[in-house]
Amino acid sequence: MKEKTGSDSNFLEAPQSASRADGGNRSLTPIFRLQPEFEAMKRRYPPGFESSLTLPCLRRIQEVRGYVADQDIDWLVEYLGVPRIQIEEVLSFYTQFRRAPIGRWHVQACRNVSCSMRGAERLIDHLSRKLGVKVGETTADGRFTLSVVECLGSCGTAPVVMINDAYHEAMDAAKLDALLEGLK
Ligand code: FES
Repeated sequence: MKEKTGSDSNFLEAPQSASRADGGNRSLTPIFRLQPEFEAMKRRYPPGFESSLTLPCLRRIQEVRGYVADQDIDWLVEYLGVPRIQIEEVLSFYTQFRRAPIGRWHVQACRNVSCSMRGAERLIDHLSRKLGVKVGETTADGRFTLSVVECLGSCGTAPVVMINDAYHEAMDAAKLDALLEGLK
């Protein structure tokens, strides 16, 4: 199982090529960790299709930082030349995007039809009691964030709980307890 490695430091603030109040003086700008990668992606798209990069750029930002911060959106608006509302729409449409830091382990319980019919609500209640948080909250020690999501695409093995990038299928309370015990 993979542990999150996102860091909030040394991240994006302004594109290198942007016109800035500081006149583009790079000594006043931070490390542009992802920009070379974004430039490579950009070269694969015809000119004028920069908005198509919104989704892959947001995905990489979240992989590195752990969530998408306001300053990342500001940066993308400038870098891609797309309206801010377009980026906000992508972020609100795709539930996998996060706008705030989360715990080291992101526990996402599916409650769509198949999982619900096989006890998802009971599992979610169990998780909430076990972790001592409500859905959407993070434990005080920063280890776990509990979320509820729609279909995870594994209905045949419901109920399904996803923890970070790993699927856990045909779950019950005992299996979940054992699983959580192993996550430090
Ligand atoms: S309903 Fe839960 S994985 Fe499809």
